[in-house]
Amino acid sequence: MAAKREHFGGRTAAILALAGSAIGLGNIWRFPYMVGQTGGAAFIIIYLAACLLLSLPIFLAEAIIGHRTHAGTFGAMEQLAPGTRWKWLGLLTVLSPLIILSYYSVVGGWSIGYLWQSVTAGFHASDIGTVSSAYAKFISSPGLPLLFHTLFLLGCAVIVSAGVKSGIEKFNKITMPLLFVLIVVIMVYSISLPGAAPGVSYLLKPDFSKITPSAVAAAMGQSFFSLSLGVGTILTYASYIRKDENILATGLGTVGFDLLFALIAGFAIMPAVFAAGIEPGAGPGLIFETLPYIFAKMGTSVPWLSAVVAVLFFVTIVFAAFTSAISMYEVGVAYLVEQRGLSRHKATVLIFLGCWILGALCSLSFGPLAETKLFGLSIFSFCDMLTSNFLMTFGGLLFVLFVGWKMDKSVVRDEFTSGGTARFNCAVFDAFWFLLRYVAPIAIVVIFLTNFLA
Ligand code: PHE
Repeated sequence: MAAKREHFGGRTAAILALAGSAIGLGNIWRFPYMVGQTGGAAFIIIYLAACLLLSLPIFLAEAIIGHRTHAGTFGAMEQLAPGTRWKWLGLLTVLSPLIILSYYSVVGGWSIGYLWQSVTAGFHASDIGTVSSAYAKFISSPGLPLLFHTLFLLGCAVIVSAGVKSGIEKFNKITMPLLFVLIVVIMVYSISLPGAAPGVSYLLKPDFSKITPSAVAAAMGQSFFSLSLGVGTILTYASYIRKDENILATGLGTVGFDLLFALIAGFAIMPAVFAAGIEPGAGPGLIFETLPYIFAKMGTSVPWLSAVVAVLFFVTIVFAAFTSAISMYEVGVAYLVEQRGLSRHKATVLIFLGCWILGALCSLSFGPLAETKLFGLSIFSFCDMLTSNFLMTFGGLLFVLFVGWKMDKSVVRDEFTSGGTARFNCAVFDAFWFLLRYVAPIAIVVIFLTNFLA
């Protein structure tokens, strides 16, 4: 059975680790481009509501399972519902974060590549077409992206193999405050650019006609992804939180930091986009095409400053991606160590090999394997679609149903209120219970159907 389990040092350490998982490419890359595509301030308002009313209760449901059992996803299900089919949820949520990790590592690798370029050569294109074709050429070449994918995954392996306390906790404790400082510096630079003001008001003045059903579903889906829900990462990290810790406070802290970071990232990117005279709805190419072009363009007025900001920007992305990736990695390691009796070192190596292979296939699907299609999609797009559109929502739905309908209410209340000692938690328990049992499952089904029909 399980070896002696490690714990995070305290509430700050737990929040930093959970926020490390939550804050990632989802905040810096996905959130700003979705804001750009879905109508600026109006999207932000729905997003705030989605985080608090939908994602926070789901987050807490997952955290309650992990915190109650002090076990990884599979072990937790075996403890709370022994010998039932719920063990499949435990297994599913070992696999889905590892699939995400595989392609996430490819994008993490690209970020390392762009960081490398920003340090060595900088960005000098005179028009956006040149930047876009450089990007297309880079991701479709077989060699470099594979090398960077390997480096990224290796970095994760080194951190995870050092353990929960001396690896994951330590890394997040150093990195997370740094990320906040960096993104604020970039925001200040971006807002101070000539022509940035319309970008700021774009984020502040809502146009309510933009609130369509699909914008609402997109906001809910984004809050899901950004808070790492439905794939067992929150459950696993929560299983390392000390017994006497207040789960609601930890959840509020994590959601608060994640929101704050996404907003600052929006203010770091949109004003620069407007300053450079670019359409805000550039889509997924925003950080690898639009931004390098902006850095190149700004470089003509104050070259050294924009070169420095470009480096800081890609440092931010690389480290934000690392703190998220290690949380996915840890889910698999916890399973192999606790359920299969492997040493942490061996488990780390095994996961490295599996994710490296799948990630390599994803990476090559932009070049040599472009013609290999799964359900009409490239390997990369298939893995992305499978996980973010289906497995995350499906896992989230099952976690919510498990806590809301299968677990004993008294047990859930006990976890939520720290055994009845936390007064504020006692006061809001009924609201949580209602959101969990009724609002969350319905909302998840809506997201699921929207993804399915889209
Ligand atoms: N929340 C992370 C991000 O915003 C992504 C993630 C998804 C991390 C699922 C862990 C699990 O980038």
